[in-house]
Amino acid sequence: MAPVRTARLRSLAKLNLSLKVLNKRPDGFHDLRTVFQTISLADTIDLEFTPGRGRRVELESGLDIPNNLIVRAANLLMDELKIRGTVRFRLTKTIPMGAGLGGGSSNAAAVLLALPVLAGVRADLATLTKLGASLGSDVPFFLHGGTALGIGRGTELYPLPEMPASPALVVCPGIHVSTPEAYRALGRGLTDELKPGILNTLQAFIWREGGSAPAETWKLDNDFETVVFRQFPLLGAIKRRLLKAGARSALMTGSGSAVFGVFGSPGERDRALGSFRREEVFSVKLVSRGAYQALWRRQLGDHIGGKTWPPLSRYSK
Ligand code: C5P
Repeated sequence: MAPVRTARLRSLAKLNLSLKVLNKRPDGFHDLRTVFQTISLADTIDLEFTPGRGRRVELESGLDIPNNLIVRAANLLMDELKIRGTVRFRLTKTIPMGAGLGGGSSNAAAVLLALPVLAGVRADLATLTKLGASLGSDVPFFLHGGTALGIGRGTELYPLPEMPASPALVVCPGIHVSTPEAYRALGRGLTDELKPGILNTLQAFIWREGGSAPAETWKLDNDFETVVFRQFPLLGAIKRRLLKAGARSALMTGSGSAVFGVFGSPGERDRALGSFRREEVFSVKLVSRGAYQALWRRQLGDHIGGKTWPPLSRYSK
């Protein structure tokens, strides 16, 4: 009997600390400048790999997620790296879907990072990035974690200085925002010139932070807020309530609908919790790249050899 290799993975959510949408592109996507940030809110994926001749991919989740990115990521990876065997996933979902928190993308990236390790094949970052980008614009970010600048479709990534592990609240009012519709509502054209000043808040954020500026001076900015708050005024109200409850800064993430607030201390955050009784609220902290990659090394445990990134399998020849 071939040995079964197992791992329990925490698949973290993200926030966009800044999101500027520039022009529309001929391929239908938009050019972005965004600052991604991993947070401690997470789904759990139990992964089981049994080497074998054929290929089987099974997902148990208790949820009906059409075209699930976990299964698509596994199939894509097994094709590309010629992995054979049976893969079983059990997904325990905590990250709300359609909220701009990147849960599905994070799940896909978790498969890309973990499956090669359990299957004993080498997968370099360039290959994983190519596969990730074909699954979704936010997937490549989760191959790195921490704080990163995303440009182009959001798939071209550069590390930014680490942010402190600031406490935050993520408020999810259960509104589903359609991402393609939110992009359409922005009305960006193919030939839009870069408007003067459009990137000033982003630049101010990046130059000021360096991980050290206090959160009340952060220049957080998300182009989607105008169009999405117009459609769902409740989201704008949540942002104002976060600020009133003591958040040093607050912003909608992605194309919504989750709105987050960053606090000066865990005590301030916990006191603010009482202002949100009707919505689903998550108490989280920002997760640095160092902490993200350390989490990955821990959760792959004995299956990895060495300290390289992405994690390298100890079973690969
Ligand atoms: O890549 P992802 O599946 O996240 O994209 C979902 C939709 O969001 C795309 O089909 C597109 O309409 C829009 N999008 C975009 N420009 C981006 C990312 C996403 O227009 N950079």
